[in-house]
Amino acid sequence: MASSIQYILFSTFLLFLIAPSLAKQSFRPKALVVPVSKDATTLQYITRINQRTPLVPISLVVDLGGQFLWVNCEQNYVSSTYHPVRCHSAQCSLAGASGCGDCFSAPKPGCNNNTCGVIPGNTVTHTATSGELATDVVSVQSTSGSNPGQVVTVPRFLFSCAPTFLLKGLARGVSGMAGLGRTRIAFPSQFASAFSFHRKFAICLSSTTSTASPGVMFYGDGPYVLLPNIDASQSLTYTPLFINPVSTASAYSQGEPSAEYFIGVKSINVSEKVVPINTKLLSIDSKGFGGTKISTVNPYTVLETSIYNALTKAFINEAAARNITRVASVAPFDVCFSSKNVFSTILGPSVPTIYLVLQNKNVYWSIFGDNSMVQVSDNVLCLGFVNGGKNPRTSIVIGGHQLEDNLLQFDLAKSRLGFSSLLFGRRTTCSNFNFTSNA
Ligand SMILES: *[C@@H]1O[C@H](CO)[C@@H](O)[C@H](O)[C@H]1NC(C)=O
Ligand SMILES: *[C@@H]1O[C@H](CO)[C@@H](O)[C@H](O)[C@H]1NC(C)=O
Ligand SMILES: *[C@@H]1O[C@H](CO)[C@@H](O)[C@H](O)[C@H]1NC(C)=O
Ligand SMILES: *[C@@H]1O[C@H](CO)[C@@H](O)[C@H](O)[C@H]1NC(C)=O
Repeated sequence: MASSIQYILFSTFLLFLIAPSLAKQSFRPKALVVPVSKDATTLQYITRINQRTPLVPISLVVDLGGQFLWVNCEQNYVSSTYHPVRCHSAQCSLAGASGCGDCFSAPKPGCNNNTCGVIPGNTVTHTATSGELATDVVSVQSTSGSNPGQVVTVPRFLFSCAPTFLLKGLARGVSGMAGLGRTRIAFPSQFASAFSFHRKFAICLSSTTSTASPGVMFYGDGPYVLLPNIDASQSLTYTPLFINPVSTASAYSQGEPSAEYFIGVKSINVSEKVVPINTKLLSIDSKGFGGTKISTVNPYTVLETSIYNALTKAFINEAAARNITRVASVAPFDVCFSSKNVFSTILGPSVPTIYLVLQNKNVYWSIFGDNSMVQVSDNVLCLGFVNGGKNPRTSIVIGGHQLEDNLLQFDLAKSRLGFSSLLFGRRTTCSNFNFTSNA
């Protein structure tokens, strides 16, 4: 199998590269932890790592299905440990890169001769360009699950350089995107290889936009402890992850499988009643159309038009049965309600629950009021789903608002997703990780 050969090559290579620093550190982390905050303007989720020599903190938009880390090298990139990746090298094939690039100006990060070219993409604006594959130092905090611990370093973390224009559409102050997709050079695989831990990672997005109470992301296995001492990794339900054979990011793929994470929604219920939808739309066809993916770059869940219409109709009916009155729409939402007759519960506004039924009728993802509704004003709540048009690539894109305060664990080796459901039910939230270091 090509992939296992690649993997062995990669492991050997990394071992060779990392050996001196491991000898120096002689500390092998079990997992890593990084904060994720939410940008109030763009609703993007922002993480922070340290990169370069000397180390500088860089902010990155989290792209769950992204292929790799890309960083703007055109501005303020100063580092004594930047190395362009040579064409036809092992790192180059690990990145799945075929092209060789030259650059006709003075050499600098992002502009060198005989380097391996990749295609960094801005998945918010659907723009892509070519970039130089490179390595540099990356450092993050390790964790035992409860607090951040000792800082650990990957001396030659692979990433792509990108020009400044690719940042357009991203939150202020970010310098690129952090790809967490299912490739060999996305964050989860590079960290797992560097520290020999499980190819697992978890995201727990916070709904608050205050940088003082961020959500959290873990690389490696649990425990994932949230205050007051709740190990959220203990309350996961599992569903298989599917591979879309055709990259949905068609602008920058060459017939590669998608790096994104798909799950198998079989039906949708509102308040225990089945929503009538064309189930054909729920599977991925040979051209890569259809199915359900999870996305951190879409602020709200996006549904194919017929699914959107069926779901909103069912929701409006069930809401009416509870005397919840519909009011004028508030963009980008069509379906809004007066908050009169809507009580507050621990799981958010008391509205009909939406169930995504998965591999069988006993496994479902419950979307309670906190994740289904968006409070747009004092008196108005809107259903936080948007219409994705008639022929979208992916029928259901589960977006950020529906993921918030749920722990999601992606297990790449077992190809499964663990999901916690709304953590409020366990008296905790995604902003409850104790970021006080005990190193
Ligand atoms: C790449 O090679 C060309 C031709 O030899 C040269 O003109 C150019 O300056 C080189 N670029 C860099 C970045 O070294
Ligand atoms: C979905 O609806 C069907 C039919 O009404 C019902 O049998 C099933 O229990 C429901 N499942 C969930 C998770 O609500
Ligand atoms: C809805 O309102 C009607 C008329 O005021 C009342 O009879 C009914 O009990 C209410 N239903 C619920 C679920 O509150
Ligand atoms: C957070 O962790 C620090 C360091 O271990 C500890 O001193 C502090 O009590 C913890 N905070 C809470 C609220 O438990």
